[in-house]
Amino acid sequence: MAKDVIIACDFASRQQTLGFLDAFAGHRKPFVKIGMELFYGAGPDIVRAVKARGHKIFLDLKLHDIPNTVRKTMQVLSALDVDMTNVHAAGTIEMMKAAREGLTREDGTRPLLIAVTQLTSTSEERMHSDLLIGAPINETIAHYAACAKEAGLDGVVCSPLEASLIKERCGKEFLTVTPGIRFADAAADDQVRITTPARAREIGSDFIVVGRPITAAEDPVAAYMRCVKDFIG
Ligand code: C5P
Repeated sequence: MAKDVIIACDFASRQQTLGFLDAFAGHRKPFVKIGMELFYGAGPDIVRAVKARGHKIFLDLKLHDIPNTVRKTMQVLSALDVDMTNVHAAGTIEMMKAAREGLTREDGTRPLLIAVTQLTSTSEERMHSDLLIGAPINETIAHYAACAKEAGLDGVVCSPLEASLIKERCGKEFLTVTPGIRFADAAADDQVRITTPARAREIGSDFIVVGRPITAAEDPVAAYMRCVKDFIG
C-alpha cells in the first residue's frame, strides 16, 4: 500500500464523524483511523458506514489477549473489511501469529497488521519500575519490532524518532506508522516527541497518523491537503 496520511477521527459519535467527513466530499478521500472510543461507542456499524463512503480504514483497537481469543476476534475484524489493524507486541510472537492467521481470509488476502511496541505514553522510568523491563527503551522497541517481523506482521506504530532505528533493524520494507505529527507553526498539545509531515517523509515513515492538526483546524480539508503535499508530495 502506498504512503498515506491517516486522519485520526477521535470523535465520540457516529454523527460527529460522518459530519466531519462530509467536508471532504469532492476532494481526495482520506484514510481514516477509528479508535477504541468511537468503535466501542458507535459499534461496528461506524466501520461499515465510513467504508461505504469509500474511505480506507485503520481500526486501532490494539488487541492484547490469549492467542485463541485474538485469532477469533481478528476473524470478525477481517470480515468488517478494514484495511489496517493492530495488536500489542507484548502479547508475544505466538499471539501475533494467531492475529495474522485470524485476519487472513479464505482467498489469502488480509488487512495490514501492525504492532504497538511500547506506547509513547510509557516513559523509560515507568517501563523499568512498573513493567520491570530492564533494557533501555529504544532497545525494547527495536526488539518488539523484530518480534513482530518474526511473527509475519507488516510493521509497527512508532514515534517518528524511532522510525529509522526500526527500519535499520527490520528492513526498509517493514512499515512504520507514525503519530505525533505537528505543523512547524502549531502547538504540540499533549504530544512530546513530535515531528512535521515533511520531516516524517525524510525519516522514511510509511503512514502518518494526524489527529488534531486536521480535526481541530479551522479548515480541515486545507490542513489535510497541506499534510498530503508535505508528506507525499
Ligand atoms: O491529535 P493527535 O495528532 O495528537 O492524534 C494522534 C493520534 O494517534 C491519536 O488518535 C492517538 O491516540 C494516536 N496515537 C499516538 N501515539 C501512539 C499511538 C497512537 O498519538 N503511540
